[in-house]
Amino acid sequence: MSKVIDGKAIANQIRHTIKEEVSALKTQHSLVPGLCVILVGDDPASKIYVRNKERACKEVGINSTVIRMDEQVAEKELLDTIERLNQDDNVHGILVQLPLPRHINKDAVINAIHPAKDVDGFHPINSGMLMAGQAEFEPCTPKGIIRLIEETDESIAGKRAVVIGRSNIVGKPVAIMLLQRHATITIAHSRTRNLAEIARTADILVVAIGKPQFVDASFIKEGAIVIDVGITRVNGSLMGDVKFEEVEKKAGYITPVPGGVGPMTITMLLENTLIAAKRNI
Ligand code: GUN
Repeated sequence: MSKVIDGKAIANQIRHTIKEEVSALKTQHSLVPGLCVILVGDDPASKIYVRNKERACKEVGINSTVIRMDEQVAEKELLDTIERLNQDDNVHGILVQLPLPRHINKDAVINAIHPAKDVDGFHPINSGMLMAGQAEFEPCTPKGIIRLIEETDESIAGKRAVVIGRSNIVGKPVAIMLLQRHATITIAHSRTRNLAEIARTADILVVAIGKPQFVDASFIKEGAIVIDVGITRVNGSLMGDVKFEEVEKKAGYITPVPGGVGPMTITMLLENTLIAAKRNI
């Protein structure tokens, strides 16, 4: 039986520290960290994520505003809004919730956010800095994943890590961050052959493919650390990419869904917003 990594408890501890730091910033520097989230359209999952982000900001004393835009909004209007927020000294972090409607060029939007306010860490300047080992804003989900792995008794150095998924948001950056911590990395994806066989070589397996219950016990090396990034709503309940019940019996450590990576992602957003605000001291 594996040890379940309690992302919720770990996130709560970190949020407690963030709350204290936010409070100190207020008293010592009269500075209130500010996050502005832009939500375009009515995607139900995005609405829930944005509401959770707002709630988390409030909990730790970060000023949060949400700008809601119609699904049909012109790209120019979105870009103009971002430019206005770039110039606003009370806004330290800007986050545009993804996915965006198809008529909007996602890359143009990400590139419009000033890199110093890009708390998602998606701007090419920030992903380049990450690649160079000089990141200021590490993307939130990968940053949360690393913290969860660090909470186990295992060290990352020298381990073989397999990341399933190659997105700019999770797969690519988490692989780079594991490499920086001296893991030997493999990035697998939908075209990878013999996926289960490759996954079975992993001491650390990060699964971020968004296919509910895709990874079963045949993917798992005995004692591995298994991080399940997937979260899909199926018949009203949330499901990870990993078959928890059977994988738990074989893995050394495993994250649950919900209550694993999810709470950490938002916590890292709070941390990045605090980092962005502190640059104004
Ligand atoms: N949609 C799903 N995950 C994320 C994220 O980390 N940031 C943003 N902006 N949108 C997302």
